[in-house]
Amino acid sequence: MAEQKKLLRALAGETLEVPPVWMMRQAGRYLPEYRATRAQAGDFLSLCYNPELAAEVTLQPIRRYGFDAAIVFADILLLPQALGADVWFVTGEGPRLSTVTSASDFNKLTGVDGIHETLNPIYETLKILKSELPKETALIGFAGAPWTVATYMIAGRGTPDQGPAHALKSTDRETFQNLIDLITEGTISYLSAQIEAGAEVVKLFDSWAGSLKGADFNDFALAPTKRIISQLKARFPHIPVIAFPREAGDAYLGFAKATGADCLAIDTKVDLAWAAKELQKDGCVQGNLDPKLMVEGGDRLISETKRIKEALSNGPHIFNLGHGITPDADPANVDVMLKALRG
Ligand code: CP3
Repeated sequence: MAEQKKLLRALAGETLEVPPVWMMRQAGRYLPEYRATRAQAGDFLSLCYNPELAAEVTLQPIRRYGFDAAIVFADILLLPQALGADVWFVTGEGPRLSTVTSASDFNKLTGVDGIHETLNPIYETLKILKSELPKETALIGFAGAPWTVATYMIAGRGTPDQGPAHALKSTDRETFQNLIDLITEGTISYLSAQIEAGAEVVKLFDSWAGSLKGADFNDFALAPTKRIISQLKARFPHIPVIAFPREAGDAYLGFAKATGADCLAIDTKVDLAWAAKELQKDGCVQGNLDPKLMVEGGDRLISETKRIKEALSNGPHIFNLGHGITPDADPANVDVMLKALRG
C-alpha cells in the first residue's frame, strides 16, 4: 500500500516526529512568481476564475518549499458572488460587495442550486491540481464559515468590529438568520463539489468568530459549522475537516467535539500548553506561528518554530501560522522556518 500523506496521517490522529506543514495564504503577494502570474491574469478575481493560472499559483509555493499540503487558490468571497452579490476588489484596500441589510436585499440573492455555474472554474482548478501535485502533497479545499461570509455580505466590506452584521442580527433577526442559512446550505453544496473535484481535506475559515460571544457564538459560529460538517460527513465520511474559529478564546474548548471537526486551527493568542492539554485530546491541532515572524525572521523565528513544535509534540499537530502570511514577508524566512522545523 502506498504510504499515506503526512497531512492526512496527522488529521487521522497520528502523532508524527516532524509535523506536516503548510501556511495560510501560502500562494500570495510575498512571492515574486505569484505577482507575475497575477499581473498576467489581470485582477485578483480573474485569477481565481482562471483554472490554469489558479492551479499555477497554487503550485508555486509547493515547488519552492515542498509543503505537505496545497490549498486551492480561490477566495471565501466567491460564494457570495455565486449567490448573486456583486463582488470586486479595490487594490490596496480590499473587498467590496453589494450589501444585504434588508429582506428585500436578501430576496434578490439567488438560490443554492445556481452557484455551480459561477464556481465551476474552482472545480476545474482542483482537477488540474489533482493530476499535477506531487504524490505526497495533500490537496485542501475551503470556504468561509457562514458568520464570516455574512459579515462581508452585510457590511459590503471588511470591518474592524463586524458592526453592521451585529446590528442586523439585533434589528432584523429573521433576515440575518435567513442569510446565515443560505450561506450554510451554499457552503455544503460548494464544499461537496470541491471534494468531488479532488479536495482531500476541507477547511472552514471563521476569521471573525472571535466577535461572537456566548449564545451568539453557539448559534452563529458553532451551529452552522456543525451543520456543514455533519452534512459533509454523511456524504464523505473519509474527508477530514479543519475548523478555524479565529480568536474564539475559551470557546475553542470542546469546539472540535461539538462540531465534528477533525482539526482545530488556532490563532496566535492561544496558549500552547493549554492547547496541548485541552484541545489535542479531541483531535489534531494546527497552528500557530505569528505571521509577523515571517517578516522579522532571525533567531526569534527559529526559537518560536521550535517552541511550537515541542509544545504540541505529544499529539497530532499540523504546523502552520496563526493567520495568513502577509505581503511584506520575506520568502527566505519560510526556508528558515522549514529548516528549524524539519532539521
Ligand atoms: O491560503 C491560500 O493560499 C489560498 C487562497 C486564499 C485567499 N484568501 C487568497 C487571497 C484563502 C484561503 C483566502 C481566505 C480568505 N479570504 C479569508 C479567510 C482567511 C483570513 O485571512 O482571515 C478572508 C477573510 C478572505 C477575504 C479577502 N480576500 C480579503 C479581506 C482580502 C483582501 C486583503 C488582502 O490580503 O489583500 C482578500 C484578497 C486575497 N485573497 C488575496 C489572496 C492571495 C490578495 C489579493 C491580491 O493578489 O491582490
